[in-house]
Order: sequence, then C-alpha cells, then structure tokens
Amino acid sequence: MSSPNLQVLLPQEWPGALYYDQDELDAVTRVIKARSPFRFYGERPQQEADQFENEFAKHIGTEHCLGVSSGTAALQIALAAMGVGPGDEVLVPGYFWVSTVGAVVRSGAVPGLVDVDESFSMDPLDLRSKISERTKAVIIVHMGGVIGQVEKIVDICRDNGLFLLEDCAQATGAGKFGKMAGSFGDMGIFSFQLNKNITAGEGGAIVTNSRELYNKSFAIHDLGYYRNEKGRLNFDDPDGQLWGIGSRMNEITAAIMRVQLKKIDTILGSMREFKNELKSELKSWPWLKTRFVEDPEGDGGAFLKLIFPDRHISIDFIEGIMKRGISVKEGGGYPVHMTDWGLHIYSNIPSLVNKRSICGHHPVWELAENSWAKEREYSIGTLPVLDSYVERTVIFCIASRLENEQKNGIKKVFTDTCETINNIHNLLDHG
Ligand SMILES: Cc1ncc(COP(=O)(O)O)c(C=O)c1O
Repeated sequence: MSSPNLQVLLPQEWPGALYYDQDELDAVTRVIKARSPFRFYGERPQQEADQFENEFAKHIGTEHCLGVSSGTAALQIALAAMGVGPGDEVLVPGYFWVSTVGAVVRSGAVPGLVDVDESFSMDPLDLRSKISERTKAVIIVHMGGVIGQVEKIVDICRDNGLFLLEDCAQATGAGKFGKMAGSFGDMGIFSFQLNKNITAGEGGAIVTNSRELYNKSFAIHDLGYYRNEKGRLNFDDPDGQLWGIGSRMNEITAAIMRVQLKKIDTILGSMREFKNELKSELKSWPWLKTRFVEDPEGDGGAFLKLIFPDRHISIDFIEGIMKRGISVKEGGGYPVHMTDWGLHIYSNIPSLVNKRSICGHHPVWELAENSWAKEREYSIGTLPVLDSYVERTVIFCIASRLENEQKNGIKKVFTDTCETINNIHNLLDHG
C-alpha cells in the first residue's frame, strides 16, 4: 500500500540558527553600540565572553570554561594543555569528524583507532585492548549528541593514568542520567559552528575542573601568554611563556551564544521529542534497528541513525523515502548513507588513510619519536564493528523546527517505505 507523493519539504539541519530572533539581534547590537567587539579591552567592554564562560560552565557543571574560536581550535588547545606531543599515542573512536583526529596529528602524536559499540561510541572493551605504554590520552566523541559507555571509559582512563578528552562538538546540552556531556572527562570541547545545537556561526568552548589545564589552555589559546588585569599581554610570567595560537572568542560571538544557551532546552526538547516518537513508530519492524541510546531523555542531537539488515535494503530505504517526497530545503544533505558521510569515518579520511604530513614535511608517523608507529594502518577493515554499521546505516536529520504536518508526513513516508521493503524483501523473520 503506497502513499501518494506527499512532498515533505524539511528545514536544514541548523538547530540553533532556526531559533534566531530579536534576542540575538539585540545582543549583537549591544556589542556594536559599545564599540567593543574584543573581549579584553575596548571603548566600553561588555564582558560578554566572561559572562558566557561563567554561564556555560554552570550549565555543564564544571569549574572552568574558556570560550574559543572553534571546536577544531578547542581540540588542538586541549591536547596541547595535556602535554600531548611527538612520541605519544592518542586513542580515538573510528567515528568522529576530521577535526578530532586532525588535532592529534597536528600535535605531533599518533592516532590509534578504537572500535565502536551499538551506540556508535567508543567500545570500552576494545579501548582496554588498545592501550599501550605509548598511550597518553583518549578522546571520546559524542556524535550526534549521544553519550556511550562513558562511565566505563572514565574508569579505564583513571586505572591507566590517561587523560580523557570529550569531544562534545555535536553534543551541547546532551547528558546521561542528569550528568552533562563535557563533565565526565578531564576536559571537554564544544563547537558553535552553524550545524551545531546552538550556534553563532563559529565558536567553541573548552571546559574542565582542573585549574592547571584551564590555565594552560588560556595561554595556548592566546599567543602563549597570560593577560594582566587591564587585558594586556603579560610577558613576565614564566609559566605563560609558551607558543600559542590566536583563538580567542570575540564579544559578538559570546553575546549571541549567551542568548542561544537560554534556548537550548527548547531546541533539544523539540528534536528529542520527535526523534523518540519516530523511533517508537519504527519499532513495528524488528529488522530495523536504531542506534542504542542508553538514556533517551539525555539524547541531545538531531541525527537519527537507522540500521538495516544489509546495504541493499538501506539503499532501498533512502530511495523509497525520497521517491515518496522527502526533501530538504536548499539541497540539504539528508538522508545520507553512512558510506557517503565524508570525513566522518576513519576509512573515508584521505589524509589519515594516506598518512599525509601536516604541511609537506615529515608525516608524524615518520618522526624519530614515533618510529614505533611507522607501520600503522588506517584503511578500511581496521574496525570491523564500525565497518559493518557504516555499510548498512542511514542518517536522517530531525530538524529543530517541524510543523505537525511535516512530522506526520515523515511518519507516513517512513511507515509506507518500511512496509514496502518488508514485503519486497520478505523480512518478517529478520530480527
Ligand atoms: C565531532 C566534531 N568535532 C569537532 C568539530 C569541529 O568544530 P568546528 O567546526 O567548530 O571547528 C566538529 C564540527 O563539525 C565535530 O562535529
């Protein structure tokens, strides 16, 4: 029984920006009127970045927060603050964004890959088997706002004396049984780029409970030096005479982020409610699985992962929902098959698979300090569990603003497509 073509046109996957209104406009105006877009000094500084940092730390439940210019910068700063460098190994899951593994390589360290579990997050059992005397830190990545077996990973890191960094770029506002993403590890990083839960177009943050890691991050994010009470660089503090980058958060970003932070529960609540509703609807087909989420109430992301018995059926599903009228405004990228999810999976990052250098000199794998990692491979086949999921998983984006008509349209199209697939492939016995 197929539906007529419904033409369900969906908004793009820009959760925070879809909620922009007069409040963000007023926030920007406030900074412009004060003629003080720089956080450390100006005509009439508004201390937007200071206030954002306090508010964000409180939201996450950590002692410290540092606003920075992007999630990518935050990752690089955090690893540098942990002292990660040549000779070290950093373990990462195989499902991430290129920035995660890029930060490891840019630090001069060697990335080691860990397989995932049914939540598409790092598998603690595989992590335990991959730790070596070279391992200095572990990065877990809460992709699409879902937190995996983080408690076990915290224990493993503690038992082995390893730093734990949480990449929460896609998980602002997500949590697990009341504890927020970013508050489990030694450090957490966030992104406020356009595709993220809350956004200023660009921006990022680092959170930690460690005064020492905060201080180091502060210096590294701002040229390697601290600042005095007038906001001027302090050259005299020997602890601050490092080599840093220029990655400060500006006042306009901070002012927008303060407004967006107030909207986070509404934005996540809207995505979570419909995602969980759609998931219950799909339970009628035992052969169709969704990503395991231990605490659906803490689910903090737009992405719904649909796992099919095989690749063939997963492609049929995409074709089926598109044929029935699902489309995304302005050519948005969803639904997407995971094999087409470029730069998100270890095996589809050419610079990793081909072990490229940072900028034309010796790749990190050829540095004398990293000679133990010379033969390391990153090609497909390295992480069998993730490889198997990637082959048969479709990612669908639940936009943060959907009309009832759109929600009903999605449900109808999904249901009709699954029914057709069920009949064609005779899947009743598949569970
Ligand atoms: C998992 C993950 N880490 C890091 C980043 C980097 O953040 P940004 O784009 O702010 O540099 C992203 C952004 O897409 C991400 O998804």
